[in-house]
Amino acid sequence: DKEEDLIPRPPVVTVMGHVDHGKTSTLDAIRNTRVTKSEAGGITQHIGASTININGQKVVFLDTPGHEAFTAMRARGANITDITVLVVAADDGIMPQTVEAINHSKNAGVEIIVAINKMDKEGANPDRIKQELTEYGLVPEDWGGDTITVPISAKKNEGIDELLEMILMVAEMQEYKANPNRKAVGTIIEAKLDKGKGPVATVLVQKGTLKFGDAVVSGCVSGKIRAMFDDKGKSVKKAKPSIPVQILGLSDVPESGDKIYVVDDEKIARNIAQKEQDKAKEEKVKKQEN
Ligand code: GTP
Ligand code: NA
Ligand code: MG
Repeated sequence: DKEEDLIPRPPVVTVMGHVDHGKTSTLDAIRNTRVTKSEAGGITQHIGASTININGQKVVFLDTPGHEAFTAMRARGANITDITVLVVAADDGIMPQTVEAINHSKNAGVEIIVAINKMDKEGANPDRIKQELTEYGLVPEDWGGDTITVPISAKKNEGIDELLEMILMVAEMQEYKANPNRKAVGTIIEAKLDKGKGPVATVLVQKGTLKFGDAVVSGCVSGKIRAMFDDKGKSVKKAKPSIPVQILGLSDVPESGDKIYVVDDEKIARNIAQKEQDKAKEEKVKKQEN
């Protein structure tokens, strides 16, 4: 894409950190809803996407699971995000999945903002967290470094405005842009088979504008978008860069983390997907021969 075709798009912010440090609760506080309580056992199983309006500025938030089983999702989250909000519980500290989130974010060249959560708890020790952060190369601003840290309590809704201010500040300095006037390319952030609707995929659009009726390919899967919903479940006809949407009309369930892109028509989409299927089969046979 040429520079003159690029126009501003909303920042994509991914919330990461160790299991139970309060990622979903922080997003709940931001959204003022209660998602955590409705999750099975309070454990996040997928990357949830939501679009939030902060003082007229759209920001897209992705939640990720902190459980160690979801390493791939942290890597994926880091790859599609502009900013990582690293949630660290003030009464606990830097744990294995915190370190993983730091590494994935650094490898992807993503800006990290640290939310020191659970400040309401008796054992909260933000200085200890800051000390530990420095050991991973994240030196807090108030200690002479350039890592933004914000003490918060997701439970008590404290520090959330400051956190949002910092997110907007970082976003403003970076000026994220994309070309909305081209065939769309995005990433599958989650996908499942719904009994009634068939394959359902959540797509984060990265370039171009994804439209109702578009022919799409994602790995071995093809289709034509026959319905599209925003993060509130509202039917929409288009999705611009940075916007997450749920789509229906795929032939099968795509792999999360895979790219999805628009092609000229359904026949082309089917042909490309068929070639991918053949390739996958060939590789499988090769593996069996070895
Ligand atoms: P996973 O998605 O499973 O990795 O967890 P998570 O990081 O999303 O944590 P979650 O928001 O599910 O919160 C875990 C527990 O910590 C829940 O019992 C929350 O109520 C509690 N919690 C979260 N934030 C705070 C806080 O600011 N203060 C206190 N006291 N408890 C909190
Ligand atoms: Na949890
Ligand atoms: Mg969670």
